[in-house]
Amino acid sequence: MKPYIVAIFNQKGGISKTTTSTNLAVCLAAFGKSVVVIDLDSQGDSTKSLGIDPKVKQGIFDLFIGNAGVDEVMVSTVFDGLRVLPSTYSLAGIEIKLSELQNSQRTLSNILAHTEMDCDYMVIDCPPALGILPINALASAHAVIIPVTATPYANDGLLRTLPSIKYVQEGLNKNLLLQGVLFTINDKNKTTRKINEMIRSRLGGTVYRTEIPRDNMVIEAATSRLPVCVYAPKSAAAQAHLDFTEEFMERHKAIAAKAGETVAAHLPREQAVERLFRWQNQNSSSMAGASDERVRQRKDQLDRMLYGDRSWAERWHLAVVHFFIDNRLSLVAFLLVVLIGMIALVGAGYEGVRRLAELVGVT
Ligand SMILES: Nc1ncnc2c1ncn2[C@@H]1O[C@H](COP(=O)(O)OP(=O)(O)OP(=O)(O)O)[C@@H](O)[C@H]1O
Ligand SMILES: [Mg+2]
Repeated sequence: MKPYIVAIFNQKGGISKTTTSTNLAVCLAAFGKSVVVIDLDSQGDSTKSLGIDPKVKQGIFDLFIGNAGVDEVMVSTVFDGLRVLPSTYSLAGIEIKLSELQNSQRTLSNILAHTEMDCDYMVIDCPPALGILPINALASAHAVIIPVTATPYANDGLLRTLPSIKYVQEGLNKNLLLQGVLFTINDKNKTTRKINEMIRSRLGGTVYRTEIPRDNMVIEAATSRLPVCVYAPKSAAAQAHLDFTEEFMERHKAIAAKAGETVAAHLPREQAVERLFRWQNQNSSSMAGASDERVRQRKDQLDRMLYGDRSWAERWHLAVVHFFIDNRLSLVAFLLVVLIGMIALVGAGYEGVRRLAELVGVT
């Protein structure tokens, strides 16, 4: 069986590549598919999120340098049908190792071409930035998905990512298809809507209908080392990931049909959801629940990654501006409120000085 290989890639960090990879993989498995996740990030986030200890003896690094075969590196997860080629901390040194090898950009595709991969899908979680590992992922994949978070820098990420894909399409893998762009960590405000609309108008049907909302459950799930679809199958984010997986499989079916191939049917959604709940029950011991403090820290970390470091004054200013934009209040109304605020402040100051003067008898 030849698996359909999909790379999850964006050169920008912290925009949900790992979350998309692990939840897509676990949802595909819930829909009855056989799936392998390839963790190409030395941070090992998808390895950890699928409940595997990143201190496993062998990982992708050993596979790349020829120290081990796929079967030796492959690890099963507690989710039926889902396995992982895990990352280990040594993967951080792969650039230097691969630079010694010839044809290093095609190392992964050569390994996969010479191995009988007994699965329907392979999902590759890429690290941020364009290095030898993402190039290897794109060189071996049939398709790439770009997660995008609508921040003022979203376009920069896309503008850097699209040419990298083109570079691979022109040289290493002319069959690589951009399967779609997925909006992730989607806030419900006008600024997000505007950025999303702008990207949709530029890329048209390439953008998936499904948008993954910002949902703290995702952060709680990550701290419990579980995909949100298992941690909280009913949450808004989990439901959106299920919608996305169905859309992903629809697109795959259409792509296969064009090539004269057929894709085996998947289980109905109700059964997929039942399986997610079963996995949730089986993992209830690791779901001790994240402390509010840890979730808050992770939330702050996420905001810093998406919006950069800001002082509290800048954050306050942004919040006020967003409030006015979101509530469709005009700039004039905004300035009026500021003016009234200033008059009140000056008034209070004047009254204070007058009372002080009275108190000390200087009138
Ligand atoms: N829909 C969401 N709602 C809220 N938080 C989210 C959502 N998706 C992801 N996150 C959080 O955002 C952070 C970054 O997500 P993730 O690790 O998936 O991004 P990444 O692109 O893989 O990052 P990196 O570039 O570092 O590999 C994590 O803390 C994750 O829990
Ligand atoms: Mg990641």
